Amino acid sequence: MQGRIVPANAEWIEEAGHLIRSGALVAFPTETVYGLGADATNGEAVARVFAAKGRPSFNPLIVHVLGLEQAVIIGSFSPMARRLTETFWPGPLTLVVPRLETTEVSELVSAGLPTVALRSPDHPVARQLLKAAQRPIAAPSANRSGHISATCAEHVAADLGESAAVILDAGPTPRGLESTVLSLVGAAPVLLRPGTVPSEAIEDILGEKIVRISEAGERLTSPGQLQSHYAPKSKLRLNAKAWEPHEAVLGFGSIAECPSQATINLSPSGDLIEAAANLFAALRKLDASGAETIAVTPVPSYGLGEAINDRLARAAAPRD
Ligand code: TXA
Ligand code: MG
Repeated sequence: MQGRIVPANAEWIEEAGHLIRSGALVAFPTETVYGLGADATNGEAVARVFAAKGRPSFNPLIVHVLGLEQAVIIGSFSPMARRLTETFWPGPLTLVVPRLETTEVSELVSAGLPTVALRSPDHPVARQLLKAAQRPIAAPSANRSGHISATCAEHVAADLGESAAVILDAGPTPRGLESTVLSLVGAAPVLLRPGTVPSEAIEDILGEKIVRISEAGERLTSPGQLQSHYAPKSKLRLNAKAWEPHEAVLGFGSIAECPSQATINLSPSGDLIEAAANLFAALRKLDASGAETIAVTPVPSYGLGEAINDRLARAAAPRD
């Protein structure tokens, strides 16, 4: 039953909980993207996640928990960290905090760092799975390392079909873009990855500006932020105002009517939330159209636009 897509009903979620406890991998939906989950306290299971994704072992994983109660026995939560969880948990905010020496979470999850990334997902299936497994679940996005994240069960099966014991199918994920990753390890909070919680919303709660990783300089780097990521086979041409008929087009808002090989508009009405939800599926679809180049029209950089532009820049980055 390797890689079987199953409906995310109560029976299968219960079974998936058993599978996690037995050391198997389970793919499951969250409000952001699908995750490839393993018992975070089982080093062998976590190692299988790295192998399945083809992920460099220096790139740590996010641990999914039901809430703060489960999180505080894994990592150290400052008053600021607690304040953020009160506002944003459950939800798409991942906090990187110091790891507690007493935690049972495998060191492989942290890739040898003295820190751990935690998030409490806000999707009923993810939450029921956490209850069924009775374990914190380490889960990266359920795609092969460097590929576009999976927002539906079929994309998980196409990328990782053989390695998940089951894929819990609850349809497309509602938000479609990964969580925001914020480090609370240093003197000031640092945005390691823009994501579904806009950085402005975090700044409103903290009452201070958060440092972008690009501004934090060499001394602080997020191990997962490889420049080329989310890489489709097609080349991306960003900020396109016009295009050739042989190019595919990824549009946002009202776009010029020029003939093109294939066109997808992320949000004709210019809604960034809708655009984020559609981004990865659209990239996969245009990539599958076989176009050599995808022309991408400009996306504003505020709110969710920061994360959308981050993913587009990585998808467009030169590959090595
Ligand atoms: O929305 C999401 O966050 C999804 C769902 C499944 O929860 N997960 C996800 O995981 O996107 P992944 O592994 O694709 O991305 C996790 C990011 C990586 O950039 C990783 O380097 C960073 O979080 N990260 C994890 N632990 C870290 C740590 N201890 N220090 C710094 N960065 C960390
Ligand atoms: Mg990922």
